[in-house]
Amino acid sequence: MPKLLFAVSEVHPLIKTGGLADVAYSLPRALQPHLHDLRLVLPAYRQAVQRARRLQPVATLQLTGFEQPIRILEGLLPDSDIPLWLVDAPEFFDREGGPYGDVDGLDWPDNAARYTLFARAIVEIACNRAGLDWQPDVVHCNDWQTGLVPALLHHEPARPATVFTLHNLAYQGLFDAAVFNTLALPKFLWTAEGLEFYGRLSFLKGGITFADRLTTVSPTYAREIQTADFGYGLEGLLDFRSAHLTGILNGADYTLWEPALDTLIEQPYDANSLELKAINKHTLQRSLGLPQTTGVALIGMIGRLVEQKGIDLLLEILPTLLGQPIQLAVLGSGEKKFEQALRGIARRQPQQVAVYIGYHEELAHRIEAGADMFLMPSRFEPCGLNQLYSLRYGTVPIVRRTGGLADSVVDATPSRLQDGSATGFVFDAATPAALLHTLQRALALYHQPEQWRKLAVRGMQQDFSWGSNVDAYLAVYQQALADRGTPPSAQ
Ligand code: ADP
Ligand code: GLC
Repeated sequence: MPKLLFAVSEVHPLIKTGGLADVAYSLPRALQPHLHDLRLVLPAYRQAVQRARRLQPVATLQLTGFEQPIRILEGLLPDSDIPLWLVDAPEFFDREGGPYGDVDGLDWPDNAARYTLFARAIVEIACNRAGLDWQPDVVHCNDWQTGLVPALLHHEPARPATVFTLHNLAYQGLFDAAVFNTLALPKFLWTAEGLEFYGRLSFLKGGITFADRLTTVSPTYAREIQTADFGYGLEGLLDFRSAHLTGILNGADYTLWEPALDTLIEQPYDANSLELKAINKHTLQRSLGLPQTTGVALIGMIGRLVEQKGIDLLLEILPTLLGQPIQLAVLGSGEKKFEQALRGIARRQPQQVAVYIGYHEELAHRIEAGADMFLMPSRFEPCGLNQLYSLRYGTVPIVRRTGGLADSVVDATPSRLQDGSATGFVFDAATPAALLHTLQRALALYHQPEQWRKLAVRGMQQDFSWGSNVDAYLAVYQQALADRGTPPSAQ
């Protein structure tokens, strides 16, 4: 099995903005037993340097286009024996704030240079020119931050095979054309068949165009992105590359997200002791200042507060929804207009709505364990992890039929309830009316406790661990190697 370099811009528990970090943690761990050798490479953000284990400098490099030499720090991820390389360029990565922006959420103005530097360092490692005496057979890149890697590697004679995973096409790494000239990238990459995208520089296009193999994070999203509604203008290129594109559903990491073992929640429980979940509900209600009324459905929602997640659909139906005896707990951060609207409602109706704006890992676990239902009315959702966690926690998901949500939740129609295959509620139209109608369906079933319990237990019994999806990635690596020809380590 090949030697793998997994290149990514965030990983739990070093630094995280969303599901990419969860996948970058759990997928390499699931792959590790099947691979000869696996390394993770990431920028040396301040938080990553603080949290990684046993870090030490192992190489110093001079990269094309950058004045200061950079260092490679070698260490380990916490709670794992996966070797980690951090690309240490303090001028670019040692900052107060998030990986992609400052404390106010504004993108760093030099993101193009930051991720060009990251890509250049990965290319040096991939071609065994970094002084590490190691060369991968396959480089697995993720999202636009690593999009230049396949583009730069494509022109290297002794290069490894490349796989590029699209976690979210909405984030493309688009920059003004003039930025291209500041990055010292090869001039031949500036064509419509290269990095140019309608007169702008696209990092994502570099990955899509040049990687030997492409994957995305659910079979449905793989189909969706080949259409104009989801492709952001890249649908033609993705359709052109469709024979090399595979949709593989993300797995959930049940070592972190398992109600029987979760140390972040008050009361562990499993499918045989689902009644204990009520203790977590009461604790959550108390801590959020919601009345501890029994028999009132508590609806949870966690995520980035952006249009993708359908938060505006929820805001529109809330006045009607709150006319009923329900409670709502929202954890998230994102666009200010959504944060303010949610805060306003929580202030006006504190008996029914609790909102926490910010990032809070422990509260995310406590909402999964304490809520009765979990809401994901996403306009699009490449995979989505919270519906997988919700299923495991017996917290019935209510989702829109898109991307990975469509591939993981079975709607509770009368016949699906009857044959026992239902696991949640699914709606089609991205409209407030469709969301409200589906919530009404869920609330009606919630008041039939025996039916509800069966639905929740059925969800808990689903297995969305990496399982066979690891084999799917291994097959893609083999295909990439076959496309590439002889792997470097065999030369
Ligand atoms: P996306 O990657 O689009 O944000 P996913 O559903 O794939 O969506 O993954 C989101 C991950 O980030 C989940 O692990 C979720 O629990 C976590 N998360 C999102 N927002 C917050 C928050 N405000 N606090 C804690 N965890 C959060
Ligand atoms: C992206 C997507 C999300 C997916 C995650 C991990 O952030 O928005 O749907 O689960 O990546 O692949």
